Amino acid sequence: MNRVAALVDSALRHAWAFDELPWHLEVDPERERFPQESFFAEGLPPFRAMSVAQRRSFVFRETCFHLSNLLAGERSGEQLVAQVMVLTARERPTHREFLAVMAQEEAKHYLALQRYLSEKAGVLYPACHQLRSALDAIEACASPEVKLLVGQVVFEWTAASLVATLLTKAREPLLAAVLRVNLKDEARHLAYSQELREPLARVFRGRAPPEMEDLVFESIRASVAALFAEPVWGELALPSRRMRRHALERLERQGVLNRYRTLVPDQLERCGFPAARLRRRLGQGLVKGLIHDA
Ligand SMILES: [Fe+2]
Ligand SMILES: [Fe+2]
Repeated sequence: MNRVAALVDSALRHAWAFDELPWHLEVDPERERFPQESFFAEGLPPFRAMSVAQRRSFVFRETCFHLSNLLAGERSGEQLVAQVMVLTARERPTHREFLAVMAQEEAKHYLALQRYLSEKAGVLYPACHQLRSALDAIEACASPEVKLLVGQVVFEWTAASLVATLLTKAREPLLAAVLRVNLKDEARHLAYSQELREPLARVFRGRAPPEMEDLVFESIRASVAALFAEPVWGELALPSRRMRRHALERLERQGVLNRYRTLVPDQLERCGFPAARLRRRLGQGLVKGLIHDA
């Protein structure tokens, strides 16, 4: 695994760290550029009782929480891509160039988000613990195909929809610029995941051991769990259980959960992964325990 460490290190050292982004701009959450509508807290009495400035700073911190999870995903994405490059150098030599580009791009995304959160916003959260353990499990698993499948289908897709959602709300020019360049790269990464269908299908052939299904299942669950901005709710003493229930209702109503229950398994199936049992498990298990455990 020394080659992986060397690749990750070189990708970070050579990453184009977004020199042309407007880093001189100050990030001030009090300014009207920040939205004051929270996807999850909207409509809840404690949120309505806040002043406009408080609401703005709440939404700002929620955004920083999501970006912090994204940061963890970018770092892990870079690691996974480097691992896949080393592990599949012989079977899929033609994928090497794209994988190398992708590792560099994830490194760039990581550096830009890190700089935004630590230097400009001054708010950086630890990653959601379910997401952290799902990422660790995929990094530790031996199969490059599982790394690609979960990395490209579950996590890239989640990250791209998060970035797209944040971008539609971001009126703050620096954040919008960071997200815009990020999304441009992610669009290419998503296109690559289509290219992967055939090679992955040849390896999975509709079969996967139960441990693999567990990894996929937990990764999908972690993608949903990471949406809960628990630490932010805690800072403002908002009732955690009630926030969770409210958040789940909103996610259900907007069809977000349904996408994880149906579209994600469909995509996995296109890569030859057996999804029938997974679909059944997600039916009940996607949100199980999300209201209770903190
Ligand atoms: Fe990325
Ligand atoms: Fe990516």
